[in-house]
This record gives sequence, C-alpha cells and structure tokens, in this order.
Amino acid sequence: MASFYITTPIYYINDKAHIGHAYTTIAADILARYRRQQGDEVLLSVGTDENSQKTLKAAREAGEDVGNYADDMAWAWKQVWDQLHISYDRFIRTTETAHEQTVSTILEHIRDNGDIYRDTYEGFYCSDCEAFVSESDLQEGLCPDHKKPPETLQEDNYFFRLSRYQEPLLEYIREHPEFVQPESRRNEVVAFVERGLDDLSISRENLEWGLSYPFDPEHTIYVWVEALMNYVTVTGYPGSNYEQWWPADVHLVGKDIIKFHCVYWPALLMSAGLELPKTVMANGFLNVEGSKMSKSLGNVVDPIELANTYGVDALRYILLRDTPYGQDGDFTIERFVAVYNSELADDLGNLVNRVSSMIQKYQDGRIGQPGDAAHDTSDYHRALKEFRFDAALEVVSKFVKDLNLYIEEEKPWEIAKTDAEHLEEVLSYLATNLAHIGELLTPFIPGTGEKIQTAFSGEILQPIEGTLFPKHDHAAG
Ligand code: MSP
Repeated sequence: MASFYITTPIYYINDKAHIGHAYTTIAADILARYRRQQGDEVLLSVGTDENSQKTLKAAREAGEDVGNYADDMAWAWKQVWDQLHISYDRFIRTTETAHEQTVSTILEHIRDNGDIYRDTYEGFYCSDCEAFVSESDLQEGLCPDHKKPPETLQEDNYFFRLSRYQEPLLEYIREHPEFVQPESRRNEVVAFVERGLDDLSISRENLEWGLSYPFDPEHTIYVWVEALMNYVTVTGYPGSNYEQWWPADVHLVGKDIIKFHCVYWPALLMSAGLELPKTVMANGFLNVEGSKMSKSLGNVVDPIELANTYGVDALRYILLRDTPYGQDGDFTIERFVAVYNSELADDLGNLVNRVSSMIQKYQDGRIGQPGDAAHDTSDYHRALKEFRFDAALEVVSKFVKDLNLYIEEEKPWEIAKTDAEHLEEVLSYLATNLAHIGELLTPFIPGTGEKIQTAFSGEILQPIEGTLFPKHDHAAG
C-alpha cells in the first residue's frame, strides 16, 4: 500500500474561515478521499498557524488572554472542518510542544550546516503579511496586498543564508518540473529566484508572543519559518517513523504564499538535509462578485452559512466545479444557485429519483443482476492526478446527462407495458451506472456519493429517503 501525504496551509487564527480557506481545504480532502478509495494509506493534515503577532493583536482586541484566545480559535477552525466533512488525520497547532521540538531539531541542522549568522536587519516589515518586504515589493509605499504602509525595522536578527541556495533551487526546479504547479506559478518562482536571493531573517527580536529561538532566548523565531516546518512536525520528525510520510506528496497552497513554499521552504529543507516535498500546487483566489474578499468591503462569504442553506455536499461540489483549480474564480450567489439547480437538483437529483421510482414501481424494488458500468473513467482519473477537479466533475456530470438521455430514448415506461425482461436489463443498467457515479462522486460529495452507491449496488434497491437536492429559488440565496 502506498503512503500519500497531503497538507493544506495552516490558517491564521485572528479571524474565522471564509470560502477561500474552505476551497483549498475541500480540494485537499477530495484528494485524500480519492487516494484512500484507490487503496493508498493517506495522511491529510490541516491546522492553525498560531504564533503570529496577529494572534496577539486579535486577543488583545477581544480583551482575552492570548493562550485562551488561541485555544478557542483553534477549536472554532476545527469545527468548521468537521462541519465541511474534511477527513483530516491530523490537526496541527503550532503552539504544540511537538512542533517546538521539531523546529528546534531542524534549526540545529541548519545551524550545523553553517547557514545561520547574526546581523542587523534594516528594512520594512508588513505585519499583515508577517513578511519582511523590500522597497521593490511596495506600491506607492504601501503593501500591495494590504494597502498599508509597512513598519520600518532595525533589529538584531539571525539570518539564514538563503543566497547560497539560488543555484541549487533553480537546478532542482529545472529537474523536477512537477515541484511547482501550475506552470504559470513555476515561471513566477523561477523569475523570482533568478532575480537573486537575499539572505532571510529567521528571528525577530524579543517579541511577546511566538516560539523562542532555541539558541538565543532573547529572540523569537520568525513565524513563517516555523510555520512551514509544521509539515514535518506532522510526520513525527525527528522520530524514527517520519520517513513513512516525509517527503509530503503535495502541499496545497494559495497563490499568494508560493514564495514561502517554493523558495524559502525548499532552501531550508536542503540546508537541513531533508528531502523536498514532491509537489506544491497553488490555487488561485476566489473573489466575490469580482472583488477581493475583505472585511472592509463586507463581502466575506461564510462557508458554514452556505452549507447550512444548501447542504455541505452542494458547497463542496460547486466550489470545485465552477473554477479550474489554479486559476482565480469568482463567487456569486446567483451562479452558485444556478449550478446547484442545474447539475445537482435537475440532473443528478432527478436521475436518482427517476431510476429508483421506476425500480420500485415496475419491479417492486428489485434491481436484478448488476451489469458492467459502461463509462470510460480514464479522463476522470487523469484529471484528479493533475488537480483538475472541475474536469473530473465534468466527466461525472456528462455521465449523468448521458443516463438521463438514455432514459428519454429508451422510455422504460413504454417497455414496462410489453417486455419485463428487457425492462429489467434497462433498469439494472441504469442502477449499475448510478452506483458507479456514486463511487466517482464520493471523494467530492461523500455523504451523497455513498448514499447513491449504496442505493444502487445490490440486487435490491436501498431507497434514499427525502430529496437529495431540493430546488432552490434564486431569490432565496
Ligand atoms: N498562515 C499562513 C499559511 C502558513 S502555511 C505554512 C497564511 N494563512 S492565511 O490564513 O492568511 O491564508 C491561508 C491560505 O488561504 C493561503 O493559502 C491563501 O492563499 C488562502 N486564501 C486566502 N484568501 C483566499 C481566497 N479569497 N481564495 C482562495 N484562497 C485564499 O497565509
């Protein structure tokens, strides 16, 4: 049995989850469920990035003790993933002792490799990005992501010799084109590295909240450096079994954090003598009605509200169906409801309903001998291997449409009048194919997929209670 290790970004806890976070996490869950279905042993890890100064600020604003605040928020994030049926095997918090130990060990290796020195950092820092930024990163003096002026820092810091890794990184990316995906992001990373790499500050001077720098307690580890190491903590490193999972098969990340995952992270790993993750796959941003989601615009979409109104499975399906993974997408409630009504309520829901009603009406619930599923699924499997979730669902959606057409053409209600034997062939063909569709849908919409598979798999129909996807009114959105 092959091992397959998938990670999601670990999210900051100064705020709650929105559909952008849900998007990446659901994608990771689909891969995890798909791999398990294929027989792999899977480790899916999710978690929270807690040692950021954002945590401290948010706790203060809420008038709470920062430790309690972190506990409450980590719990809240976990609830969201539970409610969205994310089948994670590990929920990592960067405030865990295990994480501190892993981080110390990795930093020791980096230090022993001669890659850490002490110097003064003079420059900018954007605390919303938790990133050291250079003048050329700014637009009219502002952080382009947060539209805020950065802080000016002059600190005594420990530095990582990132500059040493410029050539090894370029060579690695050249030899392993699958390392950074999609290709547009790979080009971006290569261009960034080719422009030249400065050494990276890996500590901050004496912050109130954060992991203490193991070789000098006056310093705090730069949060991004230790946050990235969570992926190794999860494997149990430096414990002896970590090699079952490390290197990770895929880190799913958003496009805004590829510099951290495709430049800093591999360089840190090379220095520590650890293998590099096989693939970093970056998704685009989900915007809302054409604009970036932001609190100040008041357009942040809550995935739990959508799941409560339309069902978890509808949310999971539509988020991954509507945008090619890797590109930016645009969320509008009108589009969401339109896809819901056409593909889930009309096509899939009706197909399931029609076939089970006919089996009940004409054959008293007896399906008969299951036949072979007629569809070629190679495109579905290829799409999932290439992170083309939308294309995998397109394959399934086409099967569903084909079966609805088959019913229109065959007219089982006519056959029922004259030929019971042929009717049984037609209905069992439909049932077999529906069971197969249920199986293909299970990674995406586990509740519904399993129901469909179970309903149509045996010789006797297991009727599904209620309506799978009741129609929704656009206005009710
Ligand atoms: N804590 C860091 C990640 C550390 S991983 C070692 C972080 N956290 S975050 O909470 O700000 O964002 C996490 C992820 O959410 C990023 O991958 C980011 O791209 C993603 N998204 C934030 N808004 C998004 C959308 N609107 N759409 C899609 N993904 C978005 O960065």
